[in-house]
Amino acid sequence: MSNIVQVNDLSKTYGDQTAVNRISFAIREGEIFGLLGPNGAGKTTTISILSTLLAPNAGEIKIAGYDVRRETARVKEIVGIVPQELALYPTLSARDNLEFFGQIYGLRGRALKARIEEALEIVGLRARGDDVIETFSGGMKRRINLAAGLLHKPKILFLDEPTVGVDPQSRNFIFENVQRLNQDGMTILYTTHYMEEAERLCHRVAIIDQGKIVALDTPHALIAMLGGGVIHIGLRESPNNVIEQVRTFGAVKTAQWADGKLAVQTHNVNAALVGVINAFNAANVPINSLEILEPNLESVFLHLTGKHLRD
Ligand SMILES: Nc1ncnc2c1ncn2[C@@H]1O[C@H](COP(=O)(O)OP(=O)(O)OP(=O)(O)O)[C@@H](O)[C@H]1O
Ligand SMILES: [Mg+2]
Repeated sequence: MSNIVQVNDLSKTYGDQTAVNRISFAIREGEIFGLLGPNGAGKTTTISILSTLLAPNAGEIKIAGYDVRRETARVKEIVGIVPQELALYPTLSARDNLEFFGQIYGLRGRALKARIEEALEIVGLRARGDDVIETFSGGMKRRINLAAGLLHKPKILFLDEPTVGVDPQSRNFIFENVQRLNQDGMTILYTTHYMEEAERLCHRVAIIDQGKIVALDTPHALIAMLGGGVIHIGLRESPNNVIEQVRTFGAVKTAQWADGKLAVQTHNVNAALVGVINAFNAANVPINSLEILEPNLESVFLHLTGKHLRD
């Protein structure tokens, strides 16, 4: 697969605040690429630069071979953007809103009308097309936002946290839309702070924190980095002899004592668990608490940044 987006050494500062700090990555044609990161990580800044809405301080970005800073008009034809902040006119109907956006993309007349109907069909809101936006639910507004990004049939779609504040039904709708658009050949850049979305939707994920990409791989490979999961055992004090014994178990990778807890990284939690508990029982060391961290992106994020994602 060839790269449709190539970002080299991109930086953006606002005053003395560094929002994006020398990031490089490539998006392959036909993939769903996730940018996963907490509040203020630099996701919206990155997407805004890639979609020509914001100028970077440094770095080079090519989209389908076009330079984002010098060949802006070309890039705009190729890219569809679904911004984090809704920009819909509340007192206009959905169709009138889409007409406005279509004109920005240079669509006119019958072609525009046809594209509006197709876009409404994709997001499942044709029947509501003549209703004014202020009568729509939050999830429906998000879906109209998505429709607006699709009007000019972009090759690549940038979605900035499209499911925030969305009811479960609209969320599923958006998920299915994204997957179907991707199956029909559209490349997708999807930002989110929901790790389960990134895990479920994205072929590859870049984890971004404080303007830096701290890891980039398939969800599977990122999770495999943590091995088979971690067991946290709360203890009154560090029983060194038992810890030494636990470290010799085949299913145990490492065992570290910190803050009243023994963190046991495993190759496989289930295989390690019984042996670890038995070792403490045999030594008559009481266990105060037991927690199992499943191998998932949230744990990977915690492991890499020392922070939880939101919520
Ligand atoms: N217009 C602006 N002026 C000054 N600072 C800004 C501006 N926009 C963003 N920032 C700062 O840049 C950093 C990155 O912000 P950005 O909006 O890109 O993060 P984000 O990952 O999209 O966060 P969120 O998940 O909350 O949407 C933050 O520290 C933010 O405060
Ligand atoms: Mg954002």
